[in-house]
Amino acid sequence: MANTKKRILTGDRPTGKLHLGHYVGTLQNRVRMQESHDLFLLVADYHSLTTHPEKEDVVATRQNALEVVMDNYAAGIEPSKVTHYLQSDVPETAELTLLFSMLATVPRLQRVPTLKEVMDNLHITEPSAGLLNYPVLQAADILIVKGELVPVGKDQASHIEVTREIARRFNTRFGEVFPEAEALIPEETPTLVGVDGQAKMSKSLGNAIMLSDDEKTVSKKVMSMYTDPNRIHATDPGIVEGNPLFIYHDLFNPDIAQVEEFKDRYRQGTIGDVECKRVLVEKLNAFLDPIRQRRRFLEERPDDVIDILRMGAERARPIAQETVAQAREAMGLISPIHAAVIDLYR
Ligand code: TRP
Repeated sequence: MANTKKRILTGDRPTGKLHLGHYVGTLQNRVRMQESHDLFLLVADYHSLTTHPEKEDVVATRQNALEVVMDNYAAGIEPSKVTHYLQSDVPETAELTLLFSMLATVPRLQRVPTLKEVMDNLHITEPSAGLLNYPVLQAADILIVKGELVPVGKDQASHIEVTREIARRFNTRFGEVFPEAEALIPEETPTLVGVDGQAKMSKSLGNAIMLSDDEKTVSKKVMSMYTDPNRIHATDPGIVEGNPLFIYHDLFNPDIAQVEEFKDRYRQGTIGDVECKRVLVEKLNAFLDPIRQRRRFLEERPDDVIDILRMGAERARPIAQETVAQAREAMGLISPIHAAVIDLYR
């Protein structure tokens, strides 16, 4: 029977090792969807160039890409169930990006909210044409494999909107080639707070627990975790709501009765931060242990990681080539060389 599972495409920028925020926000969801969908995962190394174009950055990207791949498998992705590839191993993406660039105006791209955010965060005063084109490249990623569903965080919604506009415009102008990809934005998963209490766990903010952190590191990070700042003694009544300590307990401590008991006692001032933290360290380490083991397994087999990407590219590339051929044909962008051959057979 033909594969009737809906195709999903999603991607990671190769920023290096992933953390608990990635797990809660996307990885967990992917692991579930690899069963129910035809899941395509890409490592967006072309996208990295838009903000990190220096030679050292480009070279570092290679290792970072492998780290990202390993963390996906450590989190429970199974190579046989997905198609995982490096974006630049499917260079047809670049051709489709060029064709799509004609379908998005500069003012439209200037209004994409992530552009300003990235420029502010990275102190970029004048964006390169490549950075401006970031969402168009993303549209090419999605549409080149005819992805129907795109699980992403809220911050990416504007890029999927650009993707849909481009698909519509192409289809109207040249004929139906592309699906109108839909964003899958998890409503119920809020961004995970960092261990410092800041709104977002992020490696660059230094408030992240990495999936590959060892037990001691996890312990150190949790023991210095930001909790209720107004609580000085264990006998002070504390606030549970919005307190990172309990956000983490809710997510990573499967003993619900214990979590409820801790919350009650915390509110009453009959349990110390230290005790709640110690238990959290135990639970987090129990959660991370199988992840670390799978990661270690892959770290010892770098060739297997490369094979995953090779197999992924071998599967994705013919699909991409076919799509670009369809797009060119729909547009009438056929070389006279090929046109002559086609005429011959007409
Ligand atoms: N822009 C995405 C991010 O920053 C990564 C990405 C690249 C992506 N290509 C994609 C996500 C295609 C979904 C679909 O997280």
